Amino acid sequence: MKGFGAQQRLGAVLILVLPVLTVAAGAWKADAIALMCGCLAAAGVTAAVAWSWLTDLVNLADFVAHLAGRREPVAPPLNTGIARRLSSALSRAHHDWMVESRRHSALAASYEATLDSIPDPLFLLDGARRVVGANVAANALVERDPLDMEIGALLRVPAVMDAVDRALAGQPTNDVEFSLSGPTERTFLARLRRLSEPGVGGTRVVLALHDITTIRRSERMRAEFVANASHELRTPLAGLQGYIETLAGPARNDAPARERFLPIMLQMAQRMGRLIEDLLSLSRIEFSEHARPTDPVDLGAVVRGVAETLAPQAEARSMTITTDIAPDLPAIPGQADQVAQVVQNLVDNALKYGRPGTPVEVSVGLADSAARPGGPYLAVIVRDHGEGIAREHLPRLTERFYRCDAARSRELGGTGLGLAIVKHIVNRHRAHLAIDSTEGKGSTFTVTFRTKGAS
Ligand SMILES: Nc1ncnc2c1ncn2[C@@H]1O[C@H](COP(=O)(O)OP(=O)(O)OP(=O)(O)O)[C@@H](O)[C@H]1O
Ligand SMILES: [Mg+2]
Repeated sequence: MKGFGAQQRLGAVLILVLPVLTVAAGAWKADAIALMCGCLAAAGVTAAVAWSWLTDLVNLADFVAHLAGRREPVAPPLNTGIARRLSSALSRAHHDWMVESRRHSALAASYEATLDSIPDPLFLLDGARRVVGANVAANALVERDPLDMEIGALLRVPAVMDAVDRALAGQPTNDVEFSLSGPTERTFLARLRRLSEPGVGGTRVVLALHDITTIRRSERMRAEFVANASHELRTPLAGLQGYIETLAGPARNDAPARERFLPIMLQMAQRMGRLIEDLLSLSRIEFSEHARPTDPVDLGAVVRGVAETLAPQAEARSMTITTDIAPDLPAIPGQADQVAQVVQNLVDNALKYGRPGTPVEVSVGLADSAARPGGPYLAVIVRDHGEGIAREHLPRLTERFYRCDAARSRELGGTGLGLAIVKHIVNRHRAHLAIDSTEGKGSTFTVTFRTKGAS
C-alpha cells in the first residue's frame, strides 16, 4: 500500500482502535452509559471516514463515466489522496488515449482519401468474398454501395472469382483481363493481393481493377490504321503494277492501249501521292496538337480564298459556292494555312457529296457565345444540299478512313482522311466542330473558333 496517506492511516486506526477502547472502558467500569457513548463515538468516526471514501468513489465513478463518454474530463474535487492519485492517472491515460485515437482517425481518413483518389476501382474482401471496403471508383463501377455484398454478385466474371478464391486460399494468382459490357464496353486487368494478416474490417484480399480500355482501344486503332493505310495504298499500287506489266509485255507496241492506260496510271499515282500527303499532314498536325497557334487569322479572307480556289471544282459539277461574311469581325488566334485546310476540306466534301446544280453556302459570323471564356466566338458554317448523312454515321465521321460509302468516296478520289484532319486542326485551335445532317436534304458543318487566347 505504498503512498497510503497519513489521514487515511489515522482513519483506519481510529476505526479499529476506538470501538475496542470504548468497549474495554465500558467493561472496566461496567457502566452501560459509558459503553453506549463509546459505541456511538466509534460509529460516528467510522461513518465520517466511510462518508469521505464513499464520496470520492462516487465522484471517481462519475469522472470515469465522463472519460468513457469521450467528453473533456473535469477532475472532481476529491478528499482522499489515493482517489486524487487515481483521478490524475486516469486523466493522463485518457489524454494519451485521446491523442492516439485522433492520430488513428487522421490516419484512417488519409487512407480513405488516398484510396478514393485512385482512379482504378478497389475492393477489400473478407474471407467469405464479402466486400468490407471499396473506393469511390469501385462504387461508381458497380453503381451502388457494394459494402457487405458478395463480390460474385457485383462482378459476374468467373475467371476473376476463381482468382479471388485462389488468393483467399493463399495460392499464387495471375492478373485476369476481362471486359464489362454496358453502354460503353470497358476492359480491366484484375489484380489480387492477399494480406498476410487480416486488415481493416477483416480484409483478407485486395482486388484492384486497372482500367485498360483506352490502351486496348488505341492498340486496336493503331492496328486498324496500319491495315487501312496499307489497303488504301495497295489498291492503286496493284493497279499500277498491272498496267506497267501489260505495257511492258503484251501491249508493248499497242499505241491505243498506251494512250488509254497512261491517264489511268497517272490517276492512280496521284491517288497514292494524295494519300501519302494526307497521312503526313495528319501526323504533322498531331505532332503539334498540344501547341496552340496564336497568329491573328482573318476568317473572312480565308473563306474567300477557299471559295476562289474551289470554284473550278464547283463549276465542274454545275455547282456554286456562295459566301456570306459578316463585316468587322475580329481576327482569331490560329495558323492560317491550317484554318484554310479546315474550310477547304469541308467545302470539298460539300461539293463532292452535294447534289449537282445546288449551291454550297459558306458563312462566317459571330456565334452567340460571348459569355463563355475565350468569347466572342466566330462560326464558319458550310451547308450543302446533298444526300445527307445517316444518324448512325455521325459519331464516327472524324475517324481516319471512315467513310459512309467507301466505294463512292474512292470513286470521287477520296481517301477518308479529310474530316480526321479537320478534327485534329480544330482540336489544336481549341475550336469546336458540330455536324448536323438530314438524310435527303443535306448537311451543315459548323466550326466555332475562339477570338481570345484563353485556353
Ligand atoms: N457533306 C457531306 N455530305 C454527305 N456525306 C459526307 C459529307 N462530308 C463527309 N461525308 C461522309 O463522310 C466520309 C468521310 O469524309 P472525309 O472528308 O473524311 O473523307 P472523304 O471525303 O471520303 O475523303 P478525303 O480524304 O478526300 O476527304 C465521306 O466518305 C462521306 O461518306
Ligand atoms: Mg473529304
